[in-house]
Amino acid sequence: MEISVTVNGTACTRDVEPRLLLVHFLRDELGLTGTHWGCDTSNCGTCVVWLDEVPVKSCTVLAVMADGRRVRTVEGLANGVGLDTVQEGFAACHGLQCGFCTPGMMMTARWLIDTNPRPSEEDIREAISGQLCRCTGYENIVRSIRWAAEREAGAEEPEAAEEVQA
Ligand code: FES
Ligand code: FES
Repeated sequence: MEISVTVNGTACTRDVEPRLLLVHFLRDELGLTGTHWGCDTSNCGTCVVWLDEVPVKSCTVLAVMADGRRVRTVEGLANGVGLDTVQEGFAACHGLQCGFCTPGMMMTARWLIDTNPRPSEEDIREAISGQLCRCTGYENIVRSIRWAAEREAGAEEPEAAEEVQA
């Protein structure tokens, strides 16, 4: 079945099997391996991308369901000039260790700050509650997202960074 999906602003047309999952379409058909595949049972959340403007677990979406729609992946987070503020936040606050969960975390973080520019810690924890990190204990992920939100709100030195443990 032929589908046309706009991925990170580029129209992509492919002939796919109806059973193909969006995560595999992105990784195997388009080579966008920034979207990770961790469980295939909708538990881990490492596969989160945006479908139109909403984060979805791409292992729960068939590629054919994205026909005619827009997908944004972690490769589309930076604007081509510099890193997205969320990416800067993860770097500033040590929001990753192995990095496996990071693409999905950042896509959810970007959506959260876009829809709620001043998220509380509770808001952040709720937003990422469907995503697992096996390494960080979540503390620095939460700080990274707070850092990005504070930076975009105009803080010179986001307070979140000051709390980071060495
Ligand atoms: S691979 Fe999609 S939730 Fe784990
Ligand atoms: S940084 Fe390793 S799973 Fe989150």
